[in-house]
Amino acid sequence: MNQKQFGSDFKWGVTTAAYQIEGANDCDGKSPSIWDTFASKKGTIKGELNDHHHCNHYNLYKEDVALINEMNFRNYRFSLAWSRIIPNGTGSINYKGIDFYNRLIDECLKHDITPWATLYHWDLPQTLQDKGGWTNRDVLNWFGEYAEKCAIHFGDRIKDWMVLNEPMVFTGAGHFLGYHAPGKRGLVNFLPAMHHACMAQGIGGRILRENVPYANIGTTYSCSHIEPVNYSPKNVAAARRFNALLNRLYIEPVLGMGYPLEELNALKKVEKHIKDDDEQRLAFDFDFIGVQNYTREIVENKWYMPYINGKLIGAKERGVPYTTMGWEVYPESIYHMLHQFYSYKNVKEIIITENGAAFSDHVTKTNRIHDRRRTTYFKEVIPYILKAKKEGVNVTGYFVWSLLDNFEWAEGFTQRFGLIHTNFDTQQRIMKDSGRWFKEFLK
Ligand code: GAL
Repeated sequence: MNQKQFGSDFKWGVTTAAYQIEGANDCDGKSPSIWDTFASKKGTIKGELNDHHHCNHYNLYKEDVALINEMNFRNYRFSLAWSRIIPNGTGSINYKGIDFYNRLIDECLKHDITPWATLYHWDLPQTLQDKGGWTNRDVLNWFGEYAEKCAIHFGDRIKDWMVLNEPMVFTGAGHFLGYHAPGKRGLVNFLPAMHHACMAQGIGGRILRENVPYANIGTTYSCSHIEPVNYSPKNVAAARRFNALLNRLYIEPVLGMGYPLEELNALKKVEKHIKDDDEQRLAFDFDFIGVQNYTREIVENKWYMPYINGKLIGAKERGVPYTTMGWEVYPESIYHMLHQFYSYKNVKEIIITENGAAFSDHVTKTNRIHDRRRTTYFKEVIPYILKAKKEGVNVTGYFVWSLLDNFEWAEGFTQRFGLIHTNFDTQQRIMKDSGRWFKEFLK
């Protein structure tokens, strides 16, 4: 396999998110986000926290951009921290925050690296959470104002935008299961958060379209190839329900198809949050759809499981290889997801905006990291992308999660996804063998 088989316009990149790498969480005018608040509560995050320094990318961004360049990636996807840019959530701008992103963008451009920005990667300003956050319909105005300010300040140099990162995860884990910020639980929180996040996709898209000339606009979705444990009608039906929840819920309204409620009875009460012209406003004509895939899921029907009447059978239980996240190593999943998302008639173009694998790494005495399993994962995934592309899926880019080991949400610093190893005490970066592999592959 050869990189040239993808064509010279295929976009190869790496991805990060503000809260996971920036650090400087209370510097230069930034106010706390819901993740600052959540992570500082006892028992929410696994392992030790390093005093919110994270990867200190706020200060080390030049070194990090140089590493992206050294690995021969020409695209960098990062997210903007709302509470760095507008500390009160709405109203006045923090120009020190704007300056930081200007420095980062200019550093990318200096190295001929295209900056790709995600507006929202889960770090809502705490001031807005205090007013109900995503469960308060006012979030649509708050988000619109934030999107407009980002477009105005960065749209001269950033042309590639993503509105949300994985709405299913920040609403599901953050507003139903409670293990991500803001730690809310139950349908009373999930349903309004779900509808407002869904609406935010089109709102953000339209604002970017109006304010950024020549913009390339997308939004991103978590997804997993879903299979029933066997093909009994009950298990097949359970797999269909999980597919609706995990893969269809947020994209179908954007495509003008409405929520897939026929499979998800329990979500019917969302209707009470839907106002008169919402249905039209939910739809937006994105230039590309960002697909983010890490594994597949195997589903079994279980009548006693609330709402969904089914259960995911973990990789450990099935005795198949898995990563330190506990996720099955299943490179083929991405191939199925590309076909599934491209089968929607309004999806014009797909970019894989995240894909990767967490394994524990060992630094040798000579400062090398021989991360064979991670490298093998990439070597196995990439041919599946090529296969889908040859079969007619218009997939135009691939971004690795992640540039460097970072703060993995509720897993704290216990998970390593990076092509670059981060020493969380000294902040020293070392390129892993997987990073070296990409460097050769992309040469
Ligand atoms: C995604 C998320 C990233 C990263 C990755 C690995 O869901 O967008 O921020 O954490 O998973 O778990």
